[in-house]
Amino acid sequence: MLYSVKPENLHTVLPAYDHAKVIETIGRYDATMQEDAEVLVKIGLACKAKSVLEIGTSLGNTAKLLAHYFGDVYTLDNALEEFGGHGERTGEVCRDIENVTQIIGNSLTPESYSSIEQPVDMVFVDDGHDYHHVVTNTFTAMQLIAPDGVLVHHDTYWESVMLGLKHLATVFDVWLVEDTYLAVVKSTIG
Ligand SMILES: C[S@@+](CC[C@H](N)C(=O)[O-])C[C@H]1O[C@@H](n2cnc3c(N)ncnc32)[C@H](O)[C@@H]1O
Repeated sequence: MLYSVKPENLHTVLPAYDHAKVIETIGRYDATMQEDAEVLVKIGLACKAKSVLEIGTSLGNTAKLLAHYFGDVYTLDNALEEFGGHGERTGEVCRDIENVTQIIGNSLTPESYSSIEQPVDMVFVDDGHDYHHVVTNTFTAMQLIAPDGVLVHHDTYWESVMLGLKHLATVFDVWLVEDTYLAVVKSTIG
């Protein structure tokens, strides 16, 4: 099912959401991403995430933020400039952070996930914004997530991301978080 939820009502999806306090945010964010970053961290805190996987590292600003709040952070990127990546600069912001493991690989290839200790508690999907990436990465990531874990998509303003989410909502519960570009996906199984 596809739902819409205001950030202040996310406790209806994740009961501990209201108690999740973001003490500070770090890293370089524009005004929009700042709001999304706070909600993302609160979602992770609400599901008591110890380990987090980010798909789509870019320079590593969000990986750095996640590393500040959560135990083990994996971040995956193919680092290819033709797909919007930063080549050798990929992950430069989070590279030296002790609890960050940077993986260079294609998110569409299952082997790219083989070094990740499973299950992870939260997955943040923020790489290719086409329908194929959105749907394929969700099905792959759902197999890595703990039963109480959560998957969060970014950039719902992309038409192709929305199309993917609508398809996914036929299988999973999907909540579009209003006033942000985030969508929460939870398994309806179990
Ligand atoms: C929007 S940026 C990620 C931003 C990052 N999550 C942040 O918040 O700072 C998208 C990234 O996805 C990566 N990407 C695109 N397609 C990919 C694929 N198939 N596998 C792995 N990474 C991919 C690009 O290289 C780019 O760095």
